[in-house]
Amino acid sequence: LAKAEVELASIPEGKNVTIKWRGKPVFIRHRTQEEIAEANTVNVKDLRDPEQDSDRVKNPEWLVMLGVCTHLGCVPIGEAGDFGGWYCPCHGSHYDISGRIRQGPAPLNLEIPEYNFQDDKLIIG
Ligand code: FES
Repeated sequence: LAKAEVELASIPEGKNVTIKWRGKPVFIRHRTQEEIAEANTVNVKDLRDPEQDSDRVKNPEWLVMLGVCTHLGCVPIGEAGDFGGWYCPCHGSHYDISGRIRQGPAPLNLEIPEYNFQDDKLIIG
């Protein structure tokens, strides 16, 4: 199946990019050091879908996930919501800067696709 390639240098720190892969949006965020720190201050025991940030990334600077709300599949909005990450306007799910569900009806964190880094590229799929 088709893979998608993204030049890492094309995404500045603190920015989001959305690409299409297998007909779905994939969100890529180049996280700042503050955001990485924030993602690691969360007490995982308190989360609905308990996952450490380190289990959701291969390199903490790069968060890569499917842009599909785990409630009913809408596309969340970036840099929105009450937890510094994404907000799904369909029924009000708030995701944090690790893509973890923090408030609202979604049951699970945003899904992480298969991906790898090759030289200066991100390869999804
Ligand atoms: Fe996102 Fe319902 S589809 S909150």
